[in-house]
Amino acid sequence: MADEGTSDKKFVVIDGNEVDLKPGETILHAARRIGIDIPTLCHDDRLSPAAACRLCLVEVEGARLLQPACAVPTQANMVVRTSGARVERNRRFILSLHLSDTIEDRAACEDNNPSRLHELAGIHGTAGQWPTTETPRADRPDDDNPYIQFRPDRCIACSLCTRYCDQVEAVSAITMAGRGARTTVSTADKLALTDTTCELCGGCIDVCPTGAMTEKAALAYGKPERELEKVRSTCNFCGVGCQVDLNVDREANRVVKVTSPPPGTTVNDGNLCVKGRFANDFIHHQDRLTTPLIRGADGELHEATWDEALTRAAEGLCGIRERYGPDSLAFISSSRCTVEENYLVQKMARAAFGTHNVHQCAAT
Ligand code: SF4
Ligand code: SF4
Ligand code: FES
Repeated sequence: MADEGTSDKKFVVIDGNEVDLKPGETILHAARRIGIDIPTLCHDDRLSPAAACRLCLVEVEGARLLQPACAVPTQANMVVRTSGARVERNRRFILSLHLSDTIEDRAACEDNNPSRLHELAGIHGTAGQWPTTETPRADRPDDDNPYIQFRPDRCIACSLCTRYCDQVEAVSAITMAGRGARTTVSTADKLALTDTTCELCGGCIDVCPTGAMTEKAALAYGKPERELEKVRSTCNFCGVGCQVDLNVDREANRVVKVTSPPPGTTVNDGNLCVKGRFANDFIHHQDRLTTPLIRGADGELHEATWDEALTRAAEGLCGIRERYGPDSLAFISSSRCTVEENYLVQKMARAAFGTHNVHQCAAT
């Protein structure tokens, strides 16, 4: 601490900059306010800090040991250094330690997950090429859930997944288990996820900084030659309007997986439900309807253009209105439509056909 005698000062000094003191604010958040980026692995603004990865350690004047910026609250007159030889040496050392606990050579890795750990190692460097240690972490046997794969040999025990499951999803299906080097992610009695309270939301995959939690389907797809391209879209399973990122293999023209945009950027704040994240195999399903069909005089369905299909529908609706009056018609729109689409359905019902018989199946 600097200048103990001036306790009326209400700021903290970070890398020589005075920052207004906000009660309870951590060093990490105070630094971010003035544009200083402290690297983190186990931090997520939605979760309480665990200070598990030690990557965010910074120097605090008067403290013997480096302090975790994600967990230590600022105090009046605190003097913090977020860079410098000691801090940077620690970062490289910590990154090397974590890399020795997972797949060190990302290029040789078979999956298509980004790895924040490897990105940070690329930015900050490492303390040398340390061999990957053989993991003593135990897997849960026979987890035949259809969507989520946990690979203990890539886990760095940061606890982001378990804290997310507990504090955001509020189901506590997974937990950190074991001690020391055997610490791993498990369930009660090592049950398969489908036998626990797990809602298969897949949020544990999105927060994992190493790809230890991953999608089974994307793993089975393998690693394309190219980077997957993220295409922002709106989930159409309900009317909430969650934003999704379709991870597309452009050359193969395939959606490989669906991920959530980062927390704090869209209405769903980094979260998705099981349908939005995993129920996407219809996109490339062979039975999917890709053109309109019109039933012909032979009683069979025949492919048609959109113009033909819309004309046929309009003729049918107008014909009923002419013969039986507007209130012989009723319009029901899908809960999978957006608010704007539902608005258009009621507009069509009222303005074009003259009936108030309009409903939306979710009654929203
Ligand atoms: S899928 Fe969701 S509910 Fe299931 S373990 Fe992961 S975070 Fe928890
Ligand atoms: S599975 Fe991923 S998020 Fe969970 S503890 Fe291991 S490294 Fe962290
Ligand atoms: S981000 Fe602070 S200890 Fe992991």
